[in-house]
Amino acid sequence: MSEALSAPLAGRGAPAVPHPGPPMIGMAGVTKTFKRRDGGTHLALDTIDLDVAPGEFVSILGPSGCGKSTLLYIVGGFVAPSGGKVTVSGDPVTGPGPDRGPVFQEFALFPWKTVLGNVAYGLREGGLSRRDAEARAGELIERVGLKGYERFYPQALSGGMKQRVAIARTLAYGPKILLMDEPFGALDAHTRIKLQNQLLELWERDRKTVLFVTHAVDEAVFLSDRVAVMSRQPGRIKEVVAIDLPRPRHRDELLLDRRYQRHVIDLERMIEDPPDLAS
Ligand SMILES: Nc1ncnc2c1ncn2[C@@H]1O[C@H](COP(=O)(O)OP(=O)(O)OP(=O)(O)O)[C@@H](O)[C@H]1O
Ligand SMILES: [Mg+2]
Repeated sequence: MSEALSAPLAGRGAPAVPHPGPPMIGMAGVTKTFKRRDGGTHLALDTIDLDVAPGEFVSILGPSGCGKSTLLYIVGGFVAPSGGKVTVSGDPVTGPGPDRGPVFQEFALFPWKTVLGNVAYGLREGGLSRRDAEARAGELIERVGLKGYERFYPQALSGGMKQRVAIARTLAYGPKILLMDEPFGALDAHTRIKLQNQLLELWERDRKTVLFVTHAVDEAVFLSDRVAVMSRQPGRIKEVVAIDLPRPRHRDELLLDRRYQRHVIDLERMIEDPPDLAS
């Protein structure tokens, strides 16, 4: 490799994009301890400090079991931290709220509702008339590229299509923040790339704040403004790397971009696990 590729990039330990006011998401000294079956305790998250600015796209990257999902559930208000605190726009998180929209792999769609019914559900719950809810749901379905599938039931859709319905359903609540836990993890490479592009298009348009969990390095670099790299046992943030690549991003251009390649190489090295001496 050339010299350009061997020089590490600047941007390590990068702070959130400067902005006035409180961060959109503030994580300060967040720890999580789980009880083990043998009566002992397991420190899953150790003193996580991370701020996410309004409109920022931040990924959490790390090996299996490092606490990525746990951290996302804590920000979502689904799980309480054992210590530290999480704020949204400066207000402490005490439970789930409509300001944070989860897109989790295991959040199944309602199998008895059509695509339209699934996406319109939250809007109906929010008090919209059936007509208005379905009109809005129709727009969202179009935005995630599923126009024509409104009357399909989830079992007739591919994994990628289901995931897009899940994204549209979450967008219907109008959250300021998207919390995405490996949303494309179970998809084939082609579908995954397609959905990454679509997510970026949506994000460029709405500039929602996104906290995105992945263990795929290329995905994190492609999507993010910053990548927080976690280590395992205990789960800690090892490093925060600013991804200084211009937007809008195009995959074919990025693959040839030295800075992109450098980030992928650097991050791959960072998440390499030390040999597990215990097993
Ligand atoms: N409810 C729970 N009770 C006990 N231990 C838990 C619980 N949830 C998570 N853990 C443990 O906490 C650690 C972090 O789990 P978590 O699911 O957050 O990891 P992850 O980084 O999301 O992993 P993956 O990439 O495999 O999804 C793991 O060791 C896991 O076994
Ligand atoms: Mg997980």
